[in-house]
Amino acid sequence: MFKNFEIQSFHRKYEVLFEPCMGALRNEIRDGDIVLIDSTVFGLYPRIAEIVKENKYFLIEANEGAKTYEEIGGLITKVIETGFSKNNRLIAIGGGITQDITGFSSSILYRGVEWVFFPTNLLTQCDSCIGSKTSVNCGEYKNQLGGFYPPSKIVIDFDFCDTLGAKDICSGLGEMMHYFLVEGTDDLNTLFEDIKQAKHDKPTLAKLVRQSLAIKSKMIEIDEFDQGPRNVFNYGHSFGHAIESTTNFQIPHGIAVAYGMDLANIISANLGLIDMSLRNRIRPILEEIWKDVPLPSIDLGQYFAALSKDKKNIGNEIKVILTRGTGDMFKTTLDKTDAIESIIQKFFTSKLYKEDL
Ligand SMILES: NC(=O)c1ccc[n+]([C@@H]2O[C@H](COP(=O)([O-])OP(=O)(O)OC[C@H]3O[C@@H](n4cnc5c(N)ncnc54)[C@H](O)[C@@H]3O)[C@@H](O)[C@H]2O)c1
Ligand SMILES: [Zn+2]
Repeated sequence: MFKNFEIQSFHRKYEVLFEPCMGALRNEIRDGDIVLIDSTVFGLYPRIAEIVKENKYFLIEANEGAKTYEEIGGLITKVIETGFSKNNRLIAIGGGITQDITGFSSSILYRGVEWVFFPTNLLTQCDSCIGSKTSVNCGEYKNQLGGFYPPSKIVIDFDFCDTLGAKDICSGLGEMMHYFLVEGTDDLNTLFEDIKQAKHDKPTLAKLVRQSLAIKSKMIEIDEFDQGPRNVFNYGHSFGHAIESTTNFQIPHGIAVAYGMDLANIISANLGLIDMSLRNRIRPILEEIWKDVPLPSIDLGQYFAALSKDKKNIGNEIKVILTRGTGDMFKTTLDKTDAIESIIQKFFTSKLYKEDL
């Protein structure tokens, strides 16, 4: 498998291990540790129950409602009632919701306790497990509370991907694509082949995960708190987040980001920042990611409202990441001019994401 690695964070150095989950969990768990586990994963992997049965554990329903400040308050109360002490750890097993709930709880409980994370889906394995972010919802307001609080250890077991659906795999591939393009791969042909192969070949999928973690880990050691350089990893994200919210989260995150990257590329080409031929070389790779998840019809009014609502934006301006070529993404402010609106409108209304604009 891959070599384990370490990340130097402001809070602590933490380890990323590539190991089978069951053995690692058995070795890791200590008396008094509490396990927070995604209820679906708990049902799919009964061996986990055997390993954690001597400890207290709580099942997490993976929905945004469970990730509210209000719900988490109740969960933390239950954790305290077990006699959990500052020296015990929370062990998270699950996807992004379980990660955020555990990371956030660990950061505030007794002014900070250690936590260990076993990411079980592709999005968390290839991206969010590192980077320290913990974001939870405040009522209806998504991801408005949180901070930076990394686990002390992350254990990645690719066998969890066996129970993921095709959409989850494609969503992870979309997330990874943005790392590869931001890093600046020159070999788009190999990338295309790898993305196709990774859909049904675990070693290729694992190789891509390892590569995207390597790209992200370099950047978070430079800009852990997202103050500047790390911003380029929002490439595809402003446009993608607005697709997610306009479609009521029918489009999975990484697939929305794939559409968002194409949109960023088209706008960049229209502004003369890249040649349209580059956008057209990247597009088939993105299409490989989104082809089984077509966009439903998008209400443009809602889409523009969602773009403007992004917490980074002010007035009629939208902050986005555009590109001058692979490996050359930059943050800029776009005025919502008629020209920009018309490009976005064409993208959504005439399926022009399939052709030259
Ligand atoms: N903290 C961060 O850095 C960060 C980054 C990105 C996203 N997020 C947050 O993460 C959440 C989205 O993440 P997500 O998509 O992982 O959500 P999630 O935790 O809801 O997981 C998605 C689904 O996958 C299921 N699942 C997990 N592992 C599985 C497995 N091995 N087999 C079968 N099913 C499995 C879950 O039960 C759930 O239904 C959002 O709330 C988002 O805001 C956080
Ligand atoms: Zn993302």
